[in-house]
Amino acid sequence: MGVLKEIVLLAVLAGACVARHVAKEPEFCRHLECPKYTMDYQTKDYEKRSYPLSMWVSTTIIGVHYDKASQEGFDKLFSYISGHNSENKKIAMTAPVIDRVIPGQGPDCADNFTVSFMVPFELQPNAPQPMDKTVFLSTIPAHQAYVRSYPGFSNEAKFLSEAEALANALNATQSYDSSFYYTAGYDSPFTILERHNEIWFFAV
Ligand SMILES: *[C@@H]1O[C@H](CO)[C@@H](O)[C@H](O)[C@H]1NC(C)=O
Ligand SMILES: *[C@@H]1O[C@H](CO)[C@@H](O)[C@H](O)[C@H]1NC(C)=O
Repeated sequence: MGVLKEIVLLAVLAGACVARHVAKEPEFCRHLECPKYTMDYQTKDYEKRSYPLSMWVSTTIIGVHYDKASQEGFDKLFSYISGHNSENKKIAMTAPVIDRVIPGQGPDCADNFTVSFMVPFELQPNAPQPMDKTVFLSTIPAHQAYVRSYPGFSNEAKFLSEAEALANALNATQSYDSSFYYTAGYDSPFTILERHNEIWFFAV
């Protein structure tokens, strides 16, 4: 991410910090709004959560490089929340930034990456329409997920090994949709300490 963009992102995150006081959300969401959930149970390797329906702004990128695809997706969504929408409205940053990965679906085994930001609750369900035709509003239905958390700066090698650890921790009765998974990142690039990342498998 370029220095200028990082500064802009920091300004948005700092602004959201002043404007919002969301006490009930998990600690790792810090000052940002994030999806609410209930924890069904927890093991040393993962937790099972239940999420209600939520609304997101998203874009899909077909590519082979996670870092490049997620940056490209992030930039489009950042433009949407910066005012490139039907109401020229600045929209608060939320957490996490999620990326649904459908491995090997595109030509030449390219992955289908869908990067999303949660629409702030006060704008759901009537969020401004994106101006970019490749950006769209959609919902994630109520669902249960197996969630594994990990610290630090995430990258492709790291989340693949965490996904493998999650798969290994689940037994035959805990079935999930193995055709896709999500990565979730809760921090801006400036947060150095106590960074929080997750891998989500959707239970079926
Ligand atoms: C990416 O995956 C989604 C969900 O299966 C699908 O609707 C979409 O058409 C795919 N995009 C491309 C370009 O293949
Ligand atoms: C699978 O894991 C769950 C959660 O840890 C546990 O309750 C259940 O007994 C396990 N089932 C089997 C067949 O090991």
